[in-house]
Amino acid sequence: MSNTRIWITGSSGRLGSALRRLLDCVECRILVSDDDVPVGDSAAVNHFADVSHPDVIINCAGLTDVHLCESDPELAYKTNALGARNLAVAARRLDAKLIQISTDDVFEGLGTKPLHEFLEPHPTTIYGKSKYAGECLVRELTDKHVIVRSSWIYGAGTNDFVDQVLAAARNGQPICLPGDEISSPTSADALADFIQKLIYTREYGVYHASCTGSCSRAEFAREILRLAGYDDVSVESTIAGETLRPRFTLLDNMMMRMTELHQMPDWKDALSVYLAGRKEGKA
Ligand SMILES: NC(=O)c1ccc[n+]([C@@H]2O[C@H](COP(=O)([O-])OP(=O)(O)OC[C@H]3O[C@@H](n4cnc5c(N)ncnc54)[C@H](OP(=O)(O)O)[C@@H]3O)[C@@H](O)[C@H]2O)c1
Repeated sequence: MSNTRIWITGSSGRLGSALRRLLDCVECRILVSDDDVPVGDSAAVNHFADVSHPDVIINCAGLTDVHLCESDPELAYKTNALGARNLAVAARRLDAKLIQISTDDVFEGLGTKPLHEFLEPHPTTIYGKSKYAGECLVRELTDKHVIVRSSWIYGAGTNDFVDQVLAAARNGQPICLPGDEISSPTSADALADFIQKLIYTREYGVYHASCTGSCSRAEFAREILRLAGYDDVSVESTIAGETLRPRFTLLDNMMMRMTELHQMPDWKDALSVYLAGRKEGKA
């Protein structure tokens, strides 16, 4: 275990930086990359893989801006699909395990029941389609893989939904968010705990990994404000309308339950831990 070489792509993002913090504390060798190794460039990926010989690759790199994905589909597919393909080819060649991070946006979001791993994805946005294409390429190209789908990830060091809500409250701006867009906010730290377990198990396949419980975007914002002491700031619930986010993408962590590998925390508990950490200056 102590000599395990772990390559984290997208290591400065929300999830990548949570993994760096977590894995820095255990005995393994962490290799990191961001735009310096563009995942869509197969020569760059193969060169890094050959020089660093990872045992495990955790692909956190992604074009996550849904608007940018719509306006530049080629960039979206190059990063989210070709990037996954290039890492899968390198992983197979080196006999490394590939942990591919994916999203609840692979689902259409028209239902009302939690979505488990055995349901067929139907992505509707370029972001969702490119991420699903990445999943399929990983499945086709390397056996030793785990695809981890999560939702509404927030974490330290990035300008995420939590930061945006707190900034709006500080600046006295009105906060209007969909009351009918439902999923589960997931702390990058909580997700990193699960991914750490995947590094050292022989579990493969697709895993849903979101914090438990569910809420709307508006409820998520209200809880952030309550925990941060902005009880007087109100959040207006709106109707999602034509957004680039599917309406209902609550993930059911069924594989986790069946394999008894891990249990994700409740989203409110994880958010409370995260915000308490920020107050203490940890985040
Ligand atoms: N955020 C969510 O709510 C959410 C939900 C479910 C699943 N996911 C998935 O989880 C993964 C991690 O998400 P995140 O929220 O941590 O993302 P993030 O904060 O947007 O970080 C993405 C990272 O990928 C890097 N990157 C972008 N294009 C790249 C390229 N062509 N080559 C190499 N690196 C590149 C970025 O580097 P630069 O900043 O230097 O460009 C950044 O470090 C992604 O695959 C995402 O699809 C995210």
